[in-house]
Amino acid sequence: MKKAVIFSGAGLSAESGIPTFRSNNGLWDNYRIEDVTSPEGWEKDPALVLDFYEQRFEQMQNCKPNAAHYAIAQLQEQFDVLCITQNIDTLLERAGVKNVIHLHGRIDYAKCECHFLIPPQNIDEECDYRSEISKAIQMGDRCPKCSKKLRPDVVWFGEAVSLPKREIRRILPEVEVFIGVGTSAKVYPASSLLYYFDTVPHRYFIDPDPPEHLRLRYTFLEGTAAEKIPELVASLLAK
Ligand code: OAD
Repeated sequence: MKKAVIFSGAGLSAESGIPTFRSNNGLWDNYRIEDVTSPEGWEKDPALVLDFYEQRFEQMQNCKPNAAHYAIAQLQEQFDVLCITQNIDTLLERAGVKNVIHLHGRIDYAKCECHFLIPPQNIDEECDYRSEISKAIQMGDRCPKCSKKLRPDVVWFGEAVSLPKREIRRILPEVEVFIGVGTSAKVYPASSLLYYFDTVPHRYFIDPDPPEHLRLRYTFLEGTAAEKIPELVASLLAK
């Protein structure tokens, strides 16, 4: 089967009602980023952090996949599709997309706070507990393995992001189509993936305001995900 890779950011879920990070009325408008998405913010005020992620959790439950998510699922009829997303929502999975890597974690998982990646916190005794959750984490929820606090399984500023380099290297020679969608490409290291696919024959970038520095690498399809992904998928399936 032909292979396709899709790299997405917040714009993919915008038309499902989840605001992007850097737009006006973006996600950060009511919070100071460092208060709710950093290990330091967690140490200072875990209740505020859990409140922020409870809102994200409920928002995700109340949202539905949009036409772009469903079109990506449809692409699987003829392509072996790998989705690499920066999004913590699970709208791709709910639309039926099978192979999704969440670079920045998932809102529907909790993990032990021992996962702090900034030393010296627990450097010698990191606990690897991680589990799916059916309701948002509450103050007082504890890790069943080591009884430290449970925290959201998301990547915070200052924490490491591991890129699926081995997987990409393995499939790259066979990838025919690469689609970047709905990302400002401003957050490293995730954005560096946009430079890995130069050898792929068909490379598209879908965004109403695509990052100008990528213009020479991609065919820009300027518009929203829910408009442009279904059109592109229809043309790929018709080939
Ligand atoms: P941004 O908010 O930085 O960028 C969103 C992109 O989506 C912009 O390029 C918009 O033009 C585009 N956009 C808006 N509406 C769209 C639509 N309907 N269809 C398609 N595109 C649309 O979000 P990200 O690039 O995802 O990280 O941000 C990357 C990371 O920054 C996030 O994963 C998060 C944040 O810090 C962590 O939390 C670790």
